[in-house]
Amino acid sequence: MQTLFIGQSLFFLHEIESTNTYANDLLKNVNPPEGTIVHTDNQTKGRGQRGSSWNSEIAQNITVSVVLKPTFLSLNQHFYLSKITALALYDVLAELLPNSQYDIKIKWPNDILVNQKKIAGVLIENTIQQQGLQHSVIGIGLNVNQANFDELNSTATSLKTLRLRYFDKLSNLSTQSPLNNDFDRKIVLEKICQQLEKWYLKLKANNTELIDLAYKTQLFKLNEPSEFINNKTQTLFKGTITDVTKDGRLEITVGNEELNYFELKEVRIIF
Ligand code: BTN
Repeated sequence: MQTLFIGQSLFFLHEIESTNTYANDLLKNVNPPEGTIVHTDNQTKGRGQRGSSWNSEIAQNITVSVVLKPTFLSLNQHFYLSKITALALYDVLAELLPNSQYDIKIKWPNDILVNQKKIAGVLIENTIQQQGLQHSVIGIGLNVNQANFDELNSTATSLKTLRLRYFDKLSNLSTQSPLNNDFDRKIVLEKICQQLEKWYLKLKANNTELIDLAYKTQLFKLNEPSEFINNKTQTLFKGTITDVTKDGRLEITVGNEELNYFELKEVRIIF
């Protein structure tokens, strides 16, 4: 693995409940070096955001957790870990899908969408000490070669699905695409480690303005009038995403200039 530290210490397990759980257990029981990754071919109890589950076909995708020790971050800066993870995934996808046909976006807080379908999800679990963060487990699920998502087919996608669709369109000979082969998951995993390391080092160097700008630039529905659900009141409202604050709240402008700020879980974008 061509990196400085992310992925230099590596645990691969054929089957495991959840790579995040395994990485958290490592942190409790041994002292894994920063950058340790845990990945598996089969997560039997993959965990998603908001208590949901994360299902992934055996040996088709990437399910990985990265151990970081961002002790230089204060508590109100923890959202930067979400930002850099999303940016790292954005850069990996931009490299693997190098074509204007693919509209890659970061959906707040850190889902990655391509052409409005979800290709990756992130679950970050932090351990806090008095002043700030002690360590973090960055869990990443990226759909790579899975071709069918059953009832989620209209909302989920994978690298392979996207590439095949594109070549089908190009050739109109949908049976034999020139690239009817799988992505090499080892290469994709290495790219994730490299890009995450790149962005983490920018964060460590306190390059937060650059991170804020890059994240905002790729944000899904930025400056586009949209509909939302307020999860607290269970009501629909119209507004426009205009920013994400440094501590990770979504800024939605309602009407001409009424600014509203939402914490994670308080609001959902309808699209
Ligand atoms: C989401 O979008 O809801 C977040 C999904 C996060 C899934 C990844 S897969 C690797 C890691 N281990 C887990 O149990 N979850 C994360």
